[in-house]
Amino acid sequence: MKKAKLAIAMIALGTAALAHGGVENKDVMARMMVMETIGDQMKLVGAMAKGQMAFDANAANSALNEIAAQSAQIVSMFEVRAEDPKSEALPVIWEDWETFSSRATDAEHAAEKLAGTIQSEADLGAALGQLGETCKACHSQFRK
Ligand code: HEC
Repeated sequence: MKKAKLAIAMIALGTAALAHGGVENKDVMARMMVMETIGDQMKLVGAMAKGQMAFDANAANSALNEIAAQSAQIVSMFEVRAEDPKSEALPVIWEDWETFSSRATDAEHAAEKLAGTIQSEADLGAALGQLGETCKACHSQFRK
């Protein structure tokens, strides 16, 4: 079992490395890292929700805290209109900056509100659903 888990972790790391492979613009790289950190925390909570990982309320709440903290950086990370062929960011981000910023604030506030509320495994699904909506709301409009 341990070996299987390790293999899965390695695969996850491998795809993350690939996603950034060849990114040359350092501002693009930095914002991708913020997103990746957010994504990793979501995966952790998701793994708990699916029972692939032992439930740990503290770990889940601190993952949500981390998502809130990272989301608070989204606006400043995208302020510079940095471009890279590997980027999935759409130009509309800078054309409709107000909407983009408010989507970032929505994600931050949702994570902030949820952090600390996870008490049992049963709380995970709804938290993931609420937060996931805020990711989707931005990605569907601003990400390729
Ligand atoms: C305000 C908009 C916005 C919000 C909110 C947002 N994202 Fe993103 N996300 C983006 C954009 C734009 C990109 C593409 C960045 C690029 O390629 O330059 C991205 C990329 C990503 C990536 C790929 C990073 C990589 O390695 O290239 C992951 C993973 C991700 N987001 C996860 C999440 C999760 C999970 C949430 C919700 C908890 C979330 N995002 C919320 C805008 C957002």
